This record gives sequence, structure tokens and C-alpha cells, in this order.
Amino acid sequence: MSHSIPVLDFGSQTAQLIVRRVRELGVYSELLPHDATEAQVRALNPLGVILSGGPASVYEPGAPQMPAWLIDSGLPVLGICYGMQLISHALGGVVLSPEDREFGPADVALSGAHPLFAGTPPSQMVWMSHGDRIEALPPGFHTLAANPSTPFAAMGDDARRWYGVQFHPEVVHTANGKAILGNFLHTICGADSAWQPANFVADAIERVRAQVGPEGQVICALSGGVDSAVAALIIHRAVGERLTCVFVDNGLLRLGEAEQVVATFREHFHIPLVAVDAREEFIGALEGVADPERKRKIIGEKFVRIFEREARGLSGQGSSLPFLAQGTLYPDVIESSAPDRTKGVTIKTHHNVGGLPADMQMQLVEPLRYMFKDEVRAAGLELGLPEDWVWRHPFPGPGLAVRLIGPVGWERLETLRRADAIFLEELRAAGQYRATQQAFAVLLPVQSVGVMGDYRTYADTIAIRAITTEDYMTADWARLPYELLAKVSSRIVNEISGVNRVVYDISSKPPATIEWE
Ligand code: XMP
Repeated sequence: MSHSIPVLDFGSQTAQLIVRRVRELGVYSELLPHDATEAQVRALNPLGVILSGGPASVYEPGAPQMPAWLIDSGLPVLGICYGMQLISHALGGVVLSPEDREFGPADVALSGAHPLFAGTPPSQMVWMSHGDRIEALPPGFHTLAANPSTPFAAMGDDARRWYGVQFHPEVVHTANGKAILGNFLHTICGADSAWQPANFVADAIERVRAQVGPEGQVICALSGGVDSAVAALIIHRAVGERLTCVFVDNGLLRLGEAEQVVATFREHFHIPLVAVDAREEFIGALEGVADPERKRKIIGEKFVRIFEREARGLSGQGSSLPFLAQGTLYPDVIESSAPDRTKGVTIKTHHNVGGLPADMQMQLVEPLRYMFKDEVRAAGLELGLPEDWVWRHPFPGPGLAVRLIGPVGWERLETLRRADAIFLEELRAAGQYRATQQAFAVLLPVQSVGVMGDYRTYADTIAIRAITTEDYMTADWARLPYELLAKVSSRIVNEISGVNRVVYDISSKPPATIEWE
């Protein structure tokens, strides 16, 4: 590892975002718990440290405190919001708890030219989100920016190279946030901007090699999504043929997906791949089941059973149990290692179907555990994963089963699969696939009347949904062109018998969700 600027996590919802921004600026970063030891931080070869915001108040009993070792560490520090208040509190300033929180956009004026604000205008828009604020600066600090309601919007002690900002430079609403963070990293800490997501690939390959050793075998469940594909490619680079991928076709996949997985991994990348055709087994168990939670449960259990069967077969080949690959991403690692974070709504945990057995007694290999999603994509491109795979929308583990409302059956699945394929084909042809973050068809348990030629029909309804979102926690419906919607609608009713009506879902999340169940 060359160098880094780690972020200490005091519980802010935007702590992860600081790490992402630092990496985007070409400097490696990780989010560490606020009480990480000096040795843990030093292991990352830090040129400076950022203290995140957080929900606490410095005077509160039990509030997380400034790590004592940091004060005499000689490292430059940037405290953001709560991080700034901690600096003030620890070094002899005064923090005030006013009645009102300050939340939202605010204008601040610079107190003069300063390297932390180099290249930014004298007056600028920032994003505030704080209860407490600084009342008196600690000795040695001077004001760098202010406004009438926040007289110490930014402060610094140039001798010590410690700085604090009351606002959030990591959020896009702070107009010059990236420039300010960049100034801290490059000018104040002296970090270069050489780090790139591609560096992850080499590091991850090394880590996997070290963990698995010269003899170990690895098995990796491919789902058809980008995470498991990139994990498999990294592991393949690390251990070659000692990786076996397992792909289970559960009959709930999109049209052509199973063939594509086999073609890409076995034929293109030459990775040993066990493709299990378990369509009959899954659909047999799901036949007639309408309750979504029961569907999920059946699919999860079946998957575990089949995967275990395959894994047992493989472990017969070597002397010891194989390692099990998982595509765990950095945000999951952070969430599970930060018990005192005020939890945001965690959408992921119960959604991570692909759901590998927790009791499989195998050691986990997690080559993506330091990566954010966009970095996984960059790694995928670096490793030669086809573009359309890299940019693939997320697809739920229970697959089409949660998009087929009502009882599961072969025929209904086929109707949905074909409608979905038509929608995505037209979306791609119109150049709209990358403009949306998820798009799919849903088969409703609703028949309605229609007319075809001289006949009245009574047939199925397909809903189509396309959303735009940054994080899948909130979403808006995509404003797709009418011409595209018209074409999709007429193709679906013309090409799929048994469907006479297509509706477009214009609900945002909240109050709706992205999926229909
Ligand atoms: P919702 O519907 O909760 O979806 O707004 C948010 C994201 O999670 C995905 N999702 C699932 N993924 N199993 C999964 O693996 C599930 O049961 C499941 N339900 C929702 C959804 O596709 C969206 O990306």
C-alpha cells in the first residue's frame, strides 16, 4: 500500500460518502471505527485523517471522543461537522448546543485566502446539517469561513495542520466540496492523486492468493449479476483453475440469461463452470404458490440445498474443504462493523438472496470487500467483463418470482419473461437502458376486457416499470419517451398471446417500492 487518508467514523450517514470522494480524488481511503487503534490507522500508511460527522453532542455522556493518540500524532486532520466540534472540544475551544438545528443550504464567506479553500470563490454555497456549533475557537485556531448564524463555519491551525468545517464538503450540495477535500488531501496532506479503482484488482488478486494458498480450491456462485462475476474473475486471476463457478438456473431468470452466463464464463473466460439446470426442481416447488414470502423462502432453501450438493461434489476432489467466494461489497462490511451507527434503512441484508448457507463450514473469500459498486464496475471493465454485463441493472435473487404477482406457473412465467425481454430490448434500442437504474415487467393477477378483431378478449395485464435512483433507497419513475412506451405496449400485446393491456408504473419510492412485492 502506498499511502491513504482514512476516515474515522463517528456515525454520520454520509461517512461512506467521504471515503468515496477521497477515492474519487485519487487517494486511497477506508472508513475505520472512531475508536480504531493507532496501529490500525497506521497500518494504512496515512498522510492525514478525516473525522466524519455524527449524531452525538460532544458533552453528552458516552459521546464518542477524539482518539487521544491522534492529538500528538503529527498527522494533519480535517474534522467535518461533529469532527470539527470534537477538535474544538479536545483542544480547548467551546461547543454550543443551540435550540435549533441548522439544516440545508447556507452561504458562507471566506475570511481570506487559504490553501484549504484555494480555487473556490469568496462567497459560496455549502450544505449544513448540525445541531451543535463552535462558540469559541481553541487556542491556535483562526476562522477560515463564516456567516451570520455560523460565525465559525470553518477553522484551522496551520502550525498543527488541523482544520474543521461545520458543513459537509462530501455532499454534492456543497458547491465546492470536492475542491475543498482535494485541497486538504493534496495541498495540506501532500497526497498525490495516483490511486485508481483499477489498483483494487491487483491488490485483491494478491489478497486472494495469500488467503487461499498454493493448494486451496475456491467455489463461487454466479448469479448473472456484476458482483459475483467480478469476484469470480478476480479469483480466477489469483488461483486459475482452482476456481470452480457454480451457476444454478432456477427457471426464474430473464430470457437468455442462463445461456449468456455459460457462454461468457465457460467459453469466453475458460473458467471451470458447473451449470445446474434446476428449473424443474424450482418451478415444481413453486407451482401455485402466490404468497411472496413463501416464494422467497422456497427459493432460498432450494438454492442452499442445490449449492451444498454441488459443493460437496467439489470438495471430494481436494484434500480439504474449498473456500467459498462471496461478492460482499464495502458498504455491507461497513454496516456490519459499525454497531453504533444510527442505522439507515438497510435495504440490503434481507435482499441478499443468492443467499449462501451461513453454516457451510467453509472459509469465505471476499475479493470485493473494500469496493464500492462503481469501483466493482471499473474493476469489471479492467478484467474484460463485457460492457453490457458491467452496466447490468440489479436483479432480485428470487428473480421473476417476485415480479409475477399471484401463483407461479410455467405459462405465466413464460408470459412475463417474454414481456420483460421485449421491454428491455426496446429500452436498449432507444438508448435508455443506461439512463435508468432498473427496468422490468410485472405480470399482474388481473384480467381485463379487450377487443381483438371482432372478438372480445379477457386477458392478462403487464405493468412495466423503469426507475431512476442513486441508491435504491429512494427512486423516481423514469420519464421514458411516449414513442418508446407505445412501441413496447404494442409489441407486448401483439407478440404475446394472453396479454391485452400494458400499463406504465408512475409511482415513486417512497411511498411505493421498486419491486411490486
Ligand atoms: P424495493 O422493492 O425494496 O427494492 O424498493 C430495492 C432494491 O432491492 C431489490 N430487491 C430484492 N433483491 N431479493 C433481492 O435480491 C428480493 O427479495 C428483493 N426485493 C427487492 C430491488 O430489485 C431493488 O433493486
